Amino acid sequence: MSSSVPPVRVLFVCLGNICRSPAAEIIFRKLVTDEGLADRYEIDSAGTIGHHEGSPPDPRMAESLRRQGFEISGRARRIREDDLSHFDLIVTMDESNLENVRNMDAEGLYHAKIRPLTSFCSEHDDPRVPDPYYGGQRGFDHVIELLKDGCRGILRETAG
Ligand code: 4NP
Repeated sequence: MSSSVPPVRVLFVCLGNICRSPAAEIIFRKLVTDEGLADRYEIDSAGTIGHHEGSPPDPRMAESLRRQGFEISGRARRIREDDLSHFDLIVTMDESNLENVRNMDAEGLYHAKIRPLTSFCSEHDDPRVPDPYYGGQRGFDHVIELLKDGCRGILRETAG
């Protein structure tokens, strides 16, 4: 960090942390880097299940991202209790992720910072970022469009 201002800490969360949330992390990191704001953000992603822990992003998601010029990085991990206090914004992909993360916050201390990605979208009114895991390649492309829209919204709201 070159400045003394603490970074905005953003955690993206989905089920497995191999499709939607790592893509969101990659897309948001490129966005803030392109805007010259990389040192103002700490960005990570996690899954609500640990099933894919240590795995790189799903090859189908990686393929769709590469086609749009994104570089692939990241290894899956499961969300932890201390993520709730550490991050400023915890961005979920669907209702199930939202409920699961809220359930980790039994006292409701962090509810205000747990928010759906689609609530940041301005060009799409989809209610969720759908799980692309059991679908075809086009599902992954649609996820990327939603994530780009939502990530622009997060930047608008947090770049101050
Ligand atoms: P993600 O997608 O939550 O976007 O990473 C999925 C990954 C794995 C599974 C389901 C969805 N799974 O059933 O293992």
